Order: sequence, then C-alpha cells, then structure tokens
Amino acid sequence: MIIKKILTKNSGLIQPSEITDQKIYLSRRKFIGTATRASVVIAAGMVMPGWLRNSYAATSLSAKKLSNIRKSSLSTQEPQTPYGDVTTYNNFYEFGTEKDQPAQKAHSLITRPWTVVVEGEIRRPKTYDIDTLLKLAPLEERIYRLRCVEGWSMVIPWIGFPLSALIKQVEPTANAKFIEFTTLHDSKQMPGQRSGVLEWPYVEGLRIDEAMHPLAILAVGLYGEVLPNQSGAPIRLVVPWKYGFKSIKSIVKIRFIEKATASSWMKAGPHEYGYFANVNPAVDHPRWSQAKERRIGEFLKRDTLPFNGYADQVAQMYAGLDLNKFF
Ligand code: MTE
Repeated sequence: MIIKKILTKNSGLIQPSEITDQKIYLSRRKFIGTATRASVVIAAGMVMPGWLRNSYAATSLSAKKLSNIRKSSLSTQEPQTPYGDVTTYNNFYEFGTEKDQPAQKAHSLITRPWTVVVEGEIRRPKTYDIDTLLKLAPLEERIYRLRCVEGWSMVIPWIGFPLSALIKQVEPTANAKFIEFTTLHDSKQMPGQRSGVLEWPYVEGLRIDEAMHPLAILAVGLYGEVLPNQSGAPIRLVVPWKYGFKSIKSIVKIRFIEKATASSWMKAGPHEYGYFANVNPAVDHPRWSQAKERRIGEFLKRDTLPFNGYADQVAQMYAGLDLNKFF
C-alpha cells in the first residue's frame, strides 16, 4: 500500500487500481495458456478430466494435510484462486512490501512452539498452545472472497474455526466491547520489522459483535493443508466482509478491551484506513476508487460488492451507522 501511495503521489495520473503488476500479468499469461489448452480439449470434443482441471489448483508437495475437515454452508461456490497465486501474491509487510517477498522470506518464521495469550476483560485468561487451539473446535473449510484495499481480490478455501468458539471459552466480562489482535514482534524472524514502514507489532481490532459473527474465523490452513508461513502461520484472522488488512496474520495475543485502540493501518494513514474497514464500493479510498476490483487471474475488472458480497449476513450490525463517516 505504501508503495502505491508513493507512486500515485509522484505521478498524479495513474490510479493504483490501474497498475498491472507483474504477478497479475503472469496470472493473465497463465489464464491465456489455460484457455488455449482448454479450447484444444474442447475442440477435440472431450470434457476436461478432473485430474487435469485440479492440476491448475495443485497444492504444495511438502505442506502437512489437515484431516477431519467439515464443509460449510457459508462457503462461496465461486471458482477458487489457484494455490500458487494464493501463496505467492501476499501482503505481509513483516517480510517486505513486495507481493512476492513473503513467499521468499517467511521461512525464517518459527511456528512451533507457538503460543497465543488471551487476556483482558475475560473471566478465563489463558495462554494457549497452538496445538490446543487446533483442537478447540471442529475444523471447517470456509471458501471466502478476500478483497484487498488495493483493488484486487481472491477466493480462498481457508481451514479454520469460528472465532466465536474461542470467545465463548474465555467468557468475556460486560466490559469487553472490542478485541485487539497482535502479530509476533521479532525482527530476527520477521526481517521486515527492521523497516519503519508500519509501527510494529502489527495490530488490528474488531468490535465484539463483529468478532462473534459466524463468518469471522481463525484460520490455521488453506487448500486442506496447514497455513504456509507467508499466509500467516500458524494462526490468523479472516473477516471476509472487511478489507484484507483486517485479517491479521501470525497472531500471538488476543486482548479483550473496553475502548477500541488504533490499528497499525489507522496509525499509518488515519484519513485513509478506518477502524471498521468494511468493503464499500461507495466510499473511495482518498486516492483511488473502490468501485471495482480485479480478481487475480481475470482479465476484466468486476464490480466490488457492499460488504464484499456478505451484506445479507452482516449489514444489520451497522444499522444506523453512517458508513461514509465510519469507514
Ligand atoms: N498481517 C500482518 N501481520 N502483516 C501484514 O502486512 N497484511 C494484511 C493482512 N494481514 C498484513 C497482515 C493485508 S494488507 C492483506 S490484503 C492480507 O493480510 C493479505 O492476506 P494474504 O497474503 O493471505 O492474501
């Protein structure tokens, strides 16, 4: 995001959403290749066999498979973004601001042992070992759209469990109005933290009713496997109706609080990134439109939907709130 800020500031003419970066270009090339191969198959009067279709979304060879995963009625039926794109086109500034840097550099992140401290306005504060968290609730596959504030989107088959399962277990007090999430702070493991691009550690927050919403999950995997480091291993938040930056990665602390604290992005750009960050095509980012988005791998931009297409499920939480003011 920072890079795009600099680009727009200096050029004045190019909108960030108009810039086609190398990865999207490569995805298009791949799409063209796929389309050509597919048309050859169709021309031959054959239906593309399942194994061939699946090879375009092939998972990695080394990652650990997760078992006993339930399907969820909350999943979208839309085509999924291939594993290769999901895991090489990332925002994880702790490993650099370029999209391909997290995949190249996140091997330095040590995800075992890993603990998550849960504290604040709750009756049962506890430090959870990650393997205990993995057994907290049945794991589900949740295929969600992810819309980045920069103007691109993906469809990702996450594996995780409802955040509400953890919240119920720790018994919030009546003072728990918000939840603050914090990423690991260790510049030896996360070299990007040596730069001042954001204030570290990365912090995000949710109102308690948002956190209790059935769509909000803690993800521990994707495509049936444990999360790759660049995707936020070993545990991250996924809140599909909000811009991607709310979905904080590699969480070490979850704190229940009475008053909301500013997130890392609010501190970096108070007029640009709000606390709610609900996907809203009607409220532009101060320097670019949010009306359209580019689904990774597609040619044409598509319309961005209010609440990223989850309005039916979540809009009532914001009834009476001026969404132009509380963006
Ligand atoms: N979490 C941390 N700790 N650091 C980050 O830089 N980037 C955010 C979010 N979570 C980020 C983060 C942004 S801007 C987006 S769009 C999503 O992660 C991207 O998630 P993905 O790389 O899995 O697609």
